[in-house]
Amino acid sequence: MCGIVGFTGNRAAVPVLIEGLTTLEYRGYDSAGVTLQTKDGIKTVKTKGRIKVLEDKINELGSFDATCGIGHTRWATHGAPSDRNSHPHENMEGTIALVHNGIIENYLELKTALIAEGVEFKSDTDSEVVAHLFSKFYKGNGLEAMMETCKHLRGSYAIAVTCSDNKDEMICTRQDNPLIVGLGKGENMIASDIPAIMSITKDFIVVGDNEIVRVKPDSVEVFDSEGNAIEKEVQTVNWDIQGAQKEGYDHFMIKEIMEQPKAVRNTITSRITDNDMPNLMEEGVGADVFKNVRNIHIVACGSAFYAGMAGKIAFERLARIPVVANVASEFRYSDPIIDENDICLVISQSGETADTLAAMREAKARGAKTIAVVNVLASSAAREADHVIYTWAGPEIAVATTKAYSAQLSVMYLLALTAAKARGTLSDEQIAGYCRDLRDLPDMIEETLGSRETMEELAKLYHERNDSFFIGRGIDYMACQEGSLKLKEIAYVHSEAYAGGELKHGPISLIEEGTPVVALACEESLYEKQISNIKSVKARGAKVILVTNGDFDIDPDMCDHVVKIAKCPFFMAASLSIIPVQFYAYYVGVFRGCDIDKPRNLAKSVTVE
Ligand code: AGP
Repeated sequence: MCGIVGFTGNRAAVPVLIEGLTTLEYRGYDSAGVTLQTKDGIKTVKTKGRIKVLEDKINELGSFDATCGIGHTRWATHGAPSDRNSHPHENMEGTIALVHNGIIENYLELKTALIAEGVEFKSDTDSEVVAHLFSKFYKGNGLEAMMETCKHLRGSYAIAVTCSDNKDEMICTRQDNPLIVGLGKGENMIASDIPAIMSITKDFIVVGDNEIVRVKPDSVEVFDSEGNAIEKEVQTVNWDIQGAQKEGYDHFMIKEIMEQPKAVRNTITSRITDNDMPNLMEEGVGADVFKNVRNIHIVACGSAFYAGMAGKIAFERLARIPVVANVASEFRYSDPIIDENDICLVISQSGETADTLAAMREAKARGAKTIAVVNVLASSAAREADHVIYTWAGPEIAVATTKAYSAQLSVMYLLALTAAKARGTLSDEQIAGYCRDLRDLPDMIEETLGSRETMEELAKLYHERNDSFFIGRGIDYMACQEGSLKLKEIAYVHSEAYAGGELKHGPISLIEEGTPVVALACEESLYEKQISNIKSVKARGAKVILVTNGDFDIDPDMCDHVVKIAKCPFFMAASLSIIPVQFYAYYVGVFRGCDIDKPRNLAKSVTVE
C-alpha cells in the first residue's frame, strides 16, 4: 500500500507531483521519490522519510525544467525504508523509471532469472524486478512492453513507467490496486486516489484490472491486455479539494471528527422518503433483496468490521435475520458456509482493502449476493459488488477513520430498517418512527460534539497511562471495540475492549489502582447489569469514565467522571457514544506527542494481505 502519481503537460511537473503525493501520503509515508523527464534524460530523486524531506532534497538540487514525471510515497513491504528501497526504480541504463503500489508475489523467481541474465539489482524490493522486466521487453513501444511484462507478473499492482525516449509519456496498468487517470486540458495525471488529481481536474477515468493506459499531454488511450483500444466512461468528482485539506484544524482527524454530522446527513438524507421510509431503491436494494434471505454475512476489516458488528445488532433485533460478522482475513480462508440464499455485506471506506475484496470475491464465487458499503467512488469493491451503497462522508485523510465509520453505521440502520420492512418484523409506524430518529441523528451528533473540551481534560489526566479498558454490553460493546482500536492506533496505548459481563472471567485481574476504564452505558435494558460491571472495576482501583444516556443515580462507587449524551433508539447508540471516545483517543494521542494523522506502522488503505 503505497501512493503513486504521474503528470504530463506543459507546466512544471515538480509542484504538481509534490502536491499529489502529499494528498496520497496517507497511503504510506516511510519514503518517497520522483523521476522527472529532463532535457538530459530522466532524473530520479528519492529519499527515506516524508514528502517534505523529498521536497527539500529536490529544492537543494536546484530547479528541474521537467513537464512530465512520476512519483511515489511508500509503505514498506519488501525491503526496509531506505533511500535505495524508495521508488522510482530505474533499469540498469537509467533510461526507464517505474513506480509500483502492491506486491509482486513471484518476484524472487523473476529476480533469479534476471540476475542469471546479468541484471544487477540496486534495492531489496519486489518492485525493482518490474522495472528490469519492462526494460527487457521495451523496444520503443511502452504499450507492447507493458503487455509483455504483465504476462510474467503474479500479485497485485498499480504501475506507472516513464522512458527517456518518450519524454512526455507515461504507461500504466493495474491489477487489484487502485489507479485513476485525471483528465485536464493539455495535461493529464495518473494517481492512486482522487485527491491527488484535484490540482488539475475533477474529471477522471477509472483504470480497470489488466487495462493498460498510455498517457500524454493531449491524449489518454486505454487498451485491454491484448492491446485492443477500449472506451472508458468519464466521471466527475462531486466534492471540492477543501474536503481534502485541513482548513485550520491541527489534524485531519479532528477535522473529520467535527465533520461527522455532515457525513451522516449526506449519507441518509436522500435515502429517507417524505413519508419516513428507508429508500435504497436507487442502489437496487429493495424488499426483494431481504425477503427470503437466510443469513447475512458481514465482512470487513478494522473499524469497518466494528461498524458491521453494530449493524449485526440492528439486523438481528429489528429484522430478525441471523447475521454472521467476520473479519475478512479470516472469512476468506474459512471455507465459509455461504451460497445463493445469503447476502455478503461488505463494508470498506477505501473499497480497496485486499482482504475485504478477496472475501467478497469468495462469497460471490459461492453464489451469494454482494452489497458493498463504500466511501471511495468507483473503488474496486464498488465496481465489483452486485449493489453499492456509497457513504457520502467525503474524502477521509486521517489514517484513523471517524466520519466514514459514522457514515457506515448510518447505512447499517437504513439497511436494517429496509430488511425489517421487507420481512414485516416491524410495523410501518415503527419504521417511520425510527426513520425520523435517524433523520435527527446528525443534529444529535452535532450536540455530542460538545463533549470535546471535557474529553480533552480527561485525556490530559490519563494520557500517561499505558493500559486502558473499554467496557460495555450489547451495542455499547460494539462501540467499545471501535474506541479501543482508536486509542491503540493513534495514541499507542495498549487497550482492551471487553463485554462488561466477560471481565470477571479473567481480564479483571489486569485492573489495578489508576487503570483508566471507559465504560459505555447507553442501552437502557442493560443499564443495571453494566452498572454492576462498572462497580466491580471501580472497587479494584480503576479510574472510570462513564459515557451514558441514562438517568440513573450515579454514586462515587460507580465512576470518577460522567459524560452525559442524548438518548436515541438503542441500535443507534454507537453513533453518539463513539463521539466522546474519538475525542478521548485523539487528545490522548496529542498529549503523548503522537503523529495523529499518520500513526506509526500504519497506512490508510491496506492493499496487501
Ligand atoms: C481505522 O481507524 C483503521 N485505520 C482500519 O482499521 C480500517 O478501518 C481498516 O483497515 C479497513 O479499511 P477500509 O474501511 O478502507 O476497508
